[in-house]
Amino acid sequence: GPSKPLVVAVDGTSGSGKSSVSKQAAHRLGLRYLDTGAMYRAMTWWMLQHGVDVDDAETVAALAGKPEIVSGTDPLAPTIVVDGQDVAEPIRTRTVTNAVSAVSAVPEVRHRLVAMQRLEIERAAASGGIVVEGRDIGTVVAPHATAKLYLTASPEARAARRSAEINGDPGATAEVTRQELLRRDAKDSGRKASPLAKAGDAEEIDTTELTLEEVVERAVETILKRAAVE
Ligand code: DC
Repeated sequence: GPSKPLVVAVDGTSGSGKSSVSKQAAHRLGLRYLDTGAMYRAMTWWMLQHGVDVDDAETVAALAGKPEIVSGTDPLAPTIVVDGQDVAEPIRTRTVTNAVSAVSAVPEVRHRLVAMQRLEIERAAASGGIVVEGRDIGTVVAPHATAKLYLTASPEARAARRSAEINGDPGATAEVTRQELLRRDAKDSGRKASPLAKAGDAEEIDTTELTLEEVVERAVETILKRAAVE
């Protein structure tokens, strides 16, 4: 019934299919959708735009409070705006993608974005709930989530999916993409502040051999099962 708001945490590596699955599951269940990776990318885009050396953690920390980041949470048309500018496209460039691990390892950055994410979760309660996608949602952002999913896939499958997303970048061959992806995963998993990790109570789905529809089906099933137990 229309009782408790649903909070769904979806974590996993890049290219595991998190975004597509989260959006579709949110749409099917009538929930809002928050892409926390887009928020880390937006912060990174702003730093690069302002000439900040992203490996200079002290400067990144000092400026982490500056950008105004606004996320639109409609699963059919999510948006991300920084200081009034729509940055949906520029945050997906290779330059931002390869700089985001350094920025997202800075505790001050995480502290601010996690607070914003929790606010978004609270706000969504009025409209039934939200699917939140990222790396530390089930472990840090929403440890009391109704349902937690952890998506994985083989490095080859992930690189192939990522390549399909990057178009018009001749430097991004399948092999380069695979290496950049593995490097980013190693940084995201190895960092001190909230590394990528599977929550103990998360349902793991290996998406390598599954179609998007099959993963969505399994995700929705898991969410409804967990919601019924609550
Ligand atoms: O999901 P994505 O590839 O768009 O995420 C971009 C980067 O942001 C990723 O390399 C790790 C970081 N990130 C994070 O540290 N914590 C999150 N909750 C989401 C993303």
